Amino acid sequence: MTSDDNSQPVVEIHVRPDGSYKVYGPVRVVDVDGAEYDLAPRRKTDKIGERIKLCRCGSSKTMPFCDDSHVETGFSSQPRVADLQ
Ligand code: FES
Repeated sequence: MTSDDNSQPVVEIHVRPDGSYKVYGPVRVVDVDGAEYDLAPRRKTDKIGERIKLCRCGSSKTMPFCDDSHVETGFSSQPRVADLQ
């Protein structure tokens, strides 16, 4: 994961091919009422760093978090920066 010019940690969101948003960095997730989710059980570490996964497909049974339902539903989406230019 990268840092900004002041060496402060930054949040990075990775759009996964046909899958979730992986969110790296010091984030809080709050629900529609403003209540904060406990992210401790959702945090995992991979080769980039510690992250949570947010659902991008709409099929998760643990919204707003990804539960890998996208695999069963065959969700397909691979947006790229170039798509918006
Ligand atoms: S992106 Fe994984 S369950 Fe929706």
